[in-house]
Amino acid sequence: SAAEKGGYDYFMLKEIAEQPQAVADTLLGRVGPDGLLVLDEMRLSDQELRDITKIIVVACGTSYHAGLIAKYAIEHWAGVPCEVELASEFRYRDPILNRDTLILVISQSGETMDTLMAVRHARDQRSRVLAVCNVNGSTISRESDAVLYTHAGPEIAVASTKAFLTQLVACYLVALYLAQVRGMKFGDEISQIMARLSEMPSKVSEVLGTVEPVRALARSLAAERCVLFLGRHVGFPVALEGALKLKELAYMHAEGFAAGELKHGPIALIDKGLPVVVVVPSPVGQRVIHDKIVSNIQEIRARGARTIVIAEEGDTAVEPYADTLIRIPAVPTLLQPLVATVPLQVFACELAAAKGHDVDQPRNLAKSVTVE
Ligand code: G6P
Repeated sequence: SAAEKGGYDYFMLKEIAEQPQAVADTLLGRVGPDGLLVLDEMRLSDQELRDITKIIVVACGTSYHAGLIAKYAIEHWAGVPCEVELASEFRYRDPILNRDTLILVISQSGETMDTLMAVRHARDQRSRVLAVCNVNGSTISRESDAVLYTHAGPEIAVASTKAFLTQLVACYLVALYLAQVRGMKFGDEISQIMARLSEMPSKVSEVLGTVEPVRALARSLAAERCVLFLGRHVGFPVALEGALKLKELAYMHAEGFAAGELKHGPIALIDKGLPVVVVVPSPVGQRVIHDKIVSNIQEIRARGARTIVIAEEGDTAVEPYADTLIRIPAVPTLLQPLVATVPLQVFACELAAAKGHDVDQPRNLAKSVTVE
């Protein structure tokens, strides 16, 4: 009913709007009086976490994209080698697992069959399993060695939005916690990063306050058949997530690519008028790859692409090459996905609505895939 949707046309819009609160709730109560991180649902001892030699993140769909971003944080902050794998692939190869492997599973519902089977497979090999779940008491959270709950609240729309942002927060917390117990980061560094994280709810609100032009853009592209997404570093999984949202909701052919791969194939797809969304890294925090991506934007535009550029405030270098410029606040590099994803969610939602699709219940999709 309209009341359940809190005045929004769709649950998805309501859930997009709830993201600042969801992020804040997931961060709540994580810092102890000594300024150190506390994850009280963590039932793995500090010694067990120090013994870990490898992490494999396993998930499906949007949760898998959160996992791809988790890798950057885990390796950068905690210095532990990390792989990311689709749950549906994981147990059908012969992953090398042992007692010192930590499997980080990410699942909003905690019921996805492939992810659950990955948990069982890993535990059979005596690996430790840490789950990031949104639904309390779900099967995956019960069967894992430890759980870090996201506090997104119930997510009704099939396409995941607020759960994704809170999964990112949870993954940052896991990475910081590992850094803390393994002595890679100390109290003051942790508190500095936590301070930046605690600014994210207001940064997400800021983005939500400026998405009206994204809506207009989406409506203007309703007749397109294909949209490409490019990104680099943590912007690459953001590009994949932007493309997934468009497939799920607007039933359009949408692909995400690593911008550095452009010359190895994707550039052949560039045609006159093809919309290409580019997620641009910070010119301050990531100057080298920022400049490379600006050249990519020039290259595709010279070949006729219609460039839709998501760039940090104050990034003037992109201005001459952006047909549409979407601004996001400047935040630390690893945290950029929390703000860069939001316009892409709005974009897919509005485009689907413009096409007359059921935004909350896209055809052929289920909220939770409990069969193989
Ligand atoms: C389905 C949903 C997606 C979700 C994926 C994984 O495909 O439609 O939105 O990302 O399952 O679900 P999980 O509950 O394991 O995160």
